[in-house]
Amino acid sequence: MSYETLIVETPSAGVALIRLNRPEALNALNSQLLGELSKALDAAEADETVRCLVLTGSDRAFAAGADIKEMSDKSYAQMFSADFFGAAARRIEQCRKPIIAAVAGYALGGGCELAMLCDFIIAAETAKFGQPEINLGVMPGIGGTQRLPRAVGKAKAMDMVLTARMMDAAEAERAGLVSRVVPADKMLEEALAAAAKIASQSPLAVAMNKELVNAAFETTLSTGVTMERRLFHSLFAFEDQKEGMAAFVEKRKPEFKGR
Ligand code: CAA
Repeated sequence: MSYETLIVETPSAGVALIRLNRPEALNALNSQLLGELSKALDAAEADETVRCLVLTGSDRAFAAGADIKEMSDKSYAQMFSADFFGAAARRIEQCRKPIIAAVAGYALGGGCELAMLCDFIIAAETAKFGQPEINLGVMPGIGGTQRLPRAVGKAKAMDMVLTARMMDAAEAERAGLVSRVVPADKMLEEALAAAAKIASQSPLAVAMNKELVNAAFETTLSTGVTMERRLFHSLFAFEDQKEGMAAFVEKRKPEFKGR
């Protein structure tokens, strides 16, 4: 499938790389881009050979937010009727395969929210995160007011949302928003290596691990721990568990088949 606002590649076995590609607008998220991203995720989800995705932008910007020029003249009725960006956000949220956000440059507004919709963020030293919607007289609309405090705590989230100040990569790592910070010229390599490592694991175990870590934000500790124990037990129904443990005992690399 070909896209106008995305470039989709397969850099190594099991890994799909999706690059946001609206350089003239610093990858601002418009309806076309989010529609194409949803289609690319549908395709990756349906493709059994894809086991992990990396979502990235350019050196200058992961994404500088929702497209202000597209939104500026919309009425409340239009925003509400279109459920503006609701479908795309749900599509990313519900992807069963892991998505790593590889962020260099600006990740602002909807761009920061898009990165937070992914499973984890690997940042270049040049990355800058922010929710500057207050400067436009509005607020985050793709989950920022909810995911940012869960990631960095109330104090920093409130500071960022109300003052619109940006967080650099070092602060974002200290605050827990990103999992690693790497030099800009190594960022994509590092994200692709992490994706390749994930792609080499049992896809069944990967999907269940992803589901359970996400469940930690939606449920109580005791329910989450019980769910975890049940799914841990259920993994013993798969050949991949036998293979993984046999390979350890036999001192060889496991070959996971996803069954
Ligand atoms: N929407 C539309 N176009 C955008 C854009 C956006 N969010 N961000 C940047 N662009 C465009 C600029 O208009 C400019 O286009 P022209 O060359 O045609 O003028 C081009 O991208 C380059 O941008 P700048 O010239 O502004 O580049 P800069 O280096 O001087 O500044 C920046 C970079 C600080 C990121 C600045 O572009 C900026 O502040 N962008 C807007 C950030 C923002 O407010 N994001 C939140 C959007 S609202 C939102 O996201 C709501 C939501 O949660 C759903």
